[in-house]
Amino acid sequence: MASPKEFHGWLGRDNKAAEGNMTWSSFEPKPFNAIDVDIKISHCGICGSDIHTLRSGWKSTRYPVCVGHEIVGHVVRVGDQVKHLKAGDRVGVGAQAFACLECEDCKAGLEQHCSRMVGTYNGKYPDGSLSMGGYADYARVPAHFTIKIPGELKSEDAAPMMCGGVTVYSPLKKNGAGPGKRVGIVGLGGLGHFGVLFAKALGCEKVVVISRRRNKEKDAREMGADDFIATAEDEKWARKHAQSLDLIISTVSSPDMPLESYLRLLRTNGTFIQVGAPEDKLPRIGAYSLIQKGVKVGGSNIGSPKEIEEMLRFAAEKGVKPWVEQRSMKDANQSVVDMEDGKARYRYVLVNADQEDRAKL
Ligand SMILES: NC(=O)c1ccc[n+]([C@@H]2O[C@H](COP(=O)([O-])OP(=O)(O)OC[C@H]3O[C@@H](n4cnc5c(N)ncnc54)[C@H](OP(=O)(O)O)[C@@H]3O)[C@@H](O)[C@H]2O)c1
Ligand SMILES: [Zn+2]
Ligand SMILES: [Zn+2]
Repeated sequence: MASPKEFHGWLGRDNKAAEGNMTWSSFEPKPFNAIDVDIKISHCGICGSDIHTLRSGWKSTRYPVCVGHEIVGHVVRVGDQVKHLKAGDRVGVGAQAFACLECEDCKAGLEQHCSRMVGTYNGKYPDGSLSMGGYADYARVPAHFTIKIPGELKSEDAAPMMCGGVTVYSPLKKNGAGPGKRVGIVGLGGLGHFGVLFAKALGCEKVVVISRRRNKEKDAREMGADDFIATAEDEKWARKHAQSLDLIISTVSSPDMPLESYLRLLRTNGTFIQVGAPEDKLPRIGAYSLIQKGVKVGGSNIGSPKEIEEMLRFAAEKGVKPWVEQRSMKDANQSVVDMEDGKARYRYVLVNADQEDRAKL
């Protein structure tokens, strides 16, 4: 049981990487510290953030980059200071790899808001080394952000929960989703489909999917949605469904969204939480869209390690079953292109070929 000196992964080298131009190459992982673990990756989900990063959509990416932050695999090396993990454990890593663990946010269990947070890829650790993600054979990550996967969950199901799942689970919980609440989920992609599954599992009174077109309605209802709004096809949808929801979680990845119309769907004192992260600014909001019904607009960033743990336990207990399409790690380029074309139903998960080969561990 050991990890190699060099790791291998799909490296994006410029802002055309998301067009199918990543190359499988070796790279040197960060120096191994006493707080780190090495993970032999079996599965890695494809998150919308991977694509924003590959094409430098948010800001200039540090190329070469190896994206992927919905990682599941087995621990193969454990730093001396790591207490909660041992070699052979099946673990997951989400979008965050490091935080200071000393600041006000960290002490409050809000590591995802730490000003020194380092993402699982395209980030810089305090020692200057770069974080590299999960479209790879191995990952090296501080153990604080490495979470044990409950035995009931399959690896391919747990992987996309590490980012996509917790990013909607966290704001649903924080904003009181449960019995008696009517919840809307905007955008039925990877995050959105988790929104429906978790809102239903939490016992919400009504879950409504707000999508652009009707083509995903059958799937949405199969996931448990009680109603479906197609904003590009239903005439007068905003008026028809006005004041019908307590909470809306928006996973929309484009700035081109009818934001004020979404707000019309809220009841008095309702809450709208944006988790989708468009590359351009959100649309302008007229003051009266907020004032008239006393609505609140906010955001939410992934989830803390504790929340990830809680979500995994909840998913195992409730039998939450994501809709994943497994693809070979070899097909990462085509899978990224297909994801960008909106073809995923509803999360691609890359699988390393030798993932069943536990003998090598
Ligand atoms: N806040 C966080 O911590 C966090 C964490 C993870 C990801 N994110 C961000 O969340 C967003 C969604 O990620 P994802 O993995 O769920 O992506 P995804 O699977 O591509 O889903 C995005 C959904 O947005 C909707 N959409 C509306 N306008 C669109 C447009 N012009 N082009 C493409 N999609 C459009 C689509 O839903 P319909 O077809 O139903 O309209 C689509 O399914 C990304 O921006 C990602 O970076 C944020
Ligand atoms: Zn993500
Ligand atoms: Zn901190």
